[in-house]
Amino acid sequence: MSAFPKDFLWGAATAAYQVEGAHDADGKGPSIWDTFSHLPGTTYQGTNGDVAVDHYHRFREDVALMAEMGMQSYRFSISWPRLLPQGRGTVNEAGVKFYSDLIDALLEHNIEPMITLYHWDLPQALQDEGGWEARSTAEAFEEYARLCYQRYGDRVKLWSTFNETVCFIGFGYITGGHPPGVKNPARALQACHHVFVAHAKAVAAFRTSGINGKIGFVNVLQTHTPLSQSAEDLAAYQLAEGIFTHWLYDPVLKGEYPAQLLAQAQAVWGVPQFAAGDEQLLRDNICDFIGLNYYKRETIAANHHESHLTMNTSGEKGKGHQQGNEFGFKDLFKFVRNPTGVYTDWDWEIYPQGLTEGIMNIKARYGDIPMYITENGLGAKDPIINGEVVDDDRIDYLRQHIGAIEDAIKQGADVRGYYPWSFIDLLSWLNGFQKQYGFVYVDHNKGLARQRKKSFFWYQKLIGSNGAER
Ligand code: NOJ
Repeated sequence: MSAFPKDFLWGAATAAYQVEGAHDADGKGPSIWDTFSHLPGTTYQGTNGDVAVDHYHRFREDVALMAEMGMQSYRFSISWPRLLPQGRGTVNEAGVKFYSDLIDALLEHNIEPMITLYHWDLPQALQDEGGWEARSTAEAFEEYARLCYQRYGDRVKLWSTFNETVCFIGFGYITGGHPPGVKNPARALQACHHVFVAHAKAVAAFRTSGINGKIGFVNVLQTHTPLSQSAEDLAAYQLAEGIFTHWLYDPVLKGEYPAQLLAQAQAVWGVPQFAAGDEQLLRDNICDFIGLNYYKRETIAANHHESHLTMNTSGEKGKGHQQGNEFGFKDLFKFVRNPTGVYTDWDWEIYPQGLTEGIMNIKARYGDIPMYITENGLGAKDPIINGEVVDDDRIDYLRQHIGAIEDAIKQGADVRGYYPWSFIDLLSWLNGFQKQYGFVYVDHNKGLARQRKKSFFWYQKLIGSNGAER
């Protein structure tokens, strides 16, 4: 017997750009990732999602594998420009049909679909009009969400609006490694505000759509620890919590920004600027659940020199300080390696207890909100022994993290499902196919043939015993 409730959903996750391919098939419009990945020097060896693992053409085979593994739910994202090539207006019926067929195939196998509306692939046409910095993108998002509700709401009960704001805003607008490649914290904060507005509008539309389901928001669960108990490290840690947790969760779970940080940001950068009614809109549209993506713990230290995630890379260096304001982010904290930590080959700390701690922190701050662990997994180069993919490290990683979820459930957290990242080996945004996460291996030298890994059979057993056999 495990502590997992009977109706706990054992699933797995993917995202459209990372698996589908068919980047210009059947009327799909380009996304910002199609554009960006085709620019020289943006990704590992110029890899892109043109073909990915061709899930668009092989989804029936993939769903059959999901069913064989015993998956009870599948979290996938919809490519906005596949449905609306211009981001709004004319609907591409072939694109609508693809997801409709996918949903039907899942339901035929009793696999509950969980849709992510936005996993980073904004229609290029909307980027050309200003992307998330333009308020009109939030309105276009509402139109897109309504279209999805109309076409799929009769069959799909679990929805989330956005995936990992910290990544597409942070990398897109602060460090600049993701599209649109901007390095400007003020622009980041305004874009991020429009994402919250878009989310709230989509939640409002969901509530009048008549769908008998739930809608949530997916964030990185960033569990922090201070490097030491020094006053400086503790202050740095508090600030990291403020930015990476409170700023990104409060608007969707409390319907407001953390007041002090908001005042500081507005004093330094003059943003985010609200349109009339925004505050009410956020307050009225708190979502039904939160999706948590957990991979690693981050150790935070005070930084008086430089940080790899500087919030002040706009070319307006130290602006906050010049204004005599202590809110410069830049000099205040940095991510460091934990001297006691165990790390993956990609330097991510493996720290399963962080998942329990993170879940309990969310419960402490936001109350009894239902949670789904919408991502968790180990990115590694898997060993192949006598033709078999023997991913013991992944099994260990997942086993420990499932234990951490069980601990949180025992402590009273309302966790309703688990979606390891990822169902199948897929394209990492910048790293090509080097980083494998899946239960299913894809052989790029054999026409993208699918092969079950050792973890596939392990997870199959685990699901069959509702988490007891692991
Ligand atoms: C989070 C993202 O949602 C997903 O797209 C990505 O591939 C994984 N993390 C691994 O980095």
